[in-house]
Amino acid sequence: MFSSRLPASLSPNRLTEAVSRRSRPFIDLTLSNPTVAGFAYPDRYLDALARPEAALYAPDPRGLLSAREAVAESYSRKGIECPSSRIVLSASSSEAYSWLFKLLGNPGDAILVPAPSYPLLDALAGLEGLTVNRYPLDRSHRWAVSAHLIAEEIGALAQRGRRVAAVVLVNPNNPTGTSIDADEFEELLDAVVDRDIALISDEVFLDYRFESQPRGVRVAAAQASLGPAARGLVFSLGGLSKAAGMPQVKAGWILAGGSPALVEEALPRLEWVADSFLSIGTPVQTGLRELLLSGDTVARQIRDRVIANHEILEGSLSGLAGVGVAPLTGGWSACLRVPAVIPEEELVLSLLEKADVLVHPGFFFDFPFEAFLVVSLLCPDGEFREGVERLERFLEAL
Ligand SMILES: Cc1ncc(COP(=O)(O)O)c(C=O)c1O
Repeated sequence: MFSSRLPASLSPNRLTEAVSRRSRPFIDLTLSNPTVAGFAYPDRYLDALARPEAALYAPDPRGLLSAREAVAESYSRKGIECPSSRIVLSASSSEAYSWLFKLLGNPGDAILVPAPSYPLLDALAGLEGLTVNRYPLDRSHRWAVSAHLIAEEIGALAQRGRRVAAVVLVNPNNPTGTSIDADEFEELLDAVVDRDIALISDEVFLDYRFESQPRGVRVAAAQASLGPAARGLVFSLGGLSKAAGMPQVKAGWILAGGSPALVEEALPRLEWVADSFLSIGTPVQTGLRELLLSGDTVARQIRDRVIANHEILEGSLSGLAGVGVAPLTGGWSACLRVPAVIPEEELVLSLLEKADVLVHPGFFFDFPFEAFLVVSLLCPDGEFREGVERLERFLEAL
């Protein structure tokens, strides 16, 4: 009776089960919800959701012009110029992915996604009848994006007669924090333009880049639109959940860029998809300018927390034999290399059982081998420090 787009089994994994069975409290080093992490949200951000204009329903499938202008202004504050006419609003970046998959893919097509990376893409692609194929990030260069490895994967799929609907970049990547540099980006554009494949660049962590990468690409859609050599069809994704630490407010956006002719073809089609849902609420749109401004102050606190927690982690763990703490390059997480003496799944279950600390195993994010742990850097300081001390004692005893 039910669609095969859904997973065959909805049973929780062993870690989720272990967490739900617990009666003892534990320190959650997987915390990814900023609204419960002790940040100070400006009072005015809730007022922004109750403006009188919010009572009027006058939908625009691309999003209200004033709201799209607010997104364009927030890009402009970061030094990126883009017209509001190239922006489409959605309720979240996850929804934006699903709209782009509808725009670009036919059932059975492949979406190329990075490994390791954020695991939600399997579900989002599966729900559109698409399959996910992975391209490896270059592990010898701290999980950098390699255009050459992506082109190889595209070539292998083409040989099997598979259509690739889109290549996804996660820039900076979750959880490795790595971003694509300008040369790799140009090479990647060469590879996809030749084969008429669109690029989707997930930039939800745009405001959390910690290493100065003068040659790093920040907003791929804007980069692909530069000058007379503008080419390809590139979509950049962003959203309030990370940019403003407000996942509960529900706003995301798509910025289209690349060849003007392709963008002109794509936008009315994307508008048609968006018109079928009209999903972003009016109050968030009429308040978006203020929400983005308030969000800048939240993002600043998140950045400070993430940097401070990463220092705590490095200070405690990097001296341990066989343990490596990856440098902080982007995002809200840290990746730890740990000795592969027992499988990752057993390791995290045992850490929870013996030390009352929850972390994610690397295989959740498709690391190609074991053992990695992924630690969220969002936890308030005291709790984070305590969690890391327990993790240190646990790893010492391995
Ligand atoms: C890389 C990445 N993309 C997208 C999302 C989804 O964000 P949203 O809340 O806008 O759907 C997340 C959430 O963690 C993420 O890590």
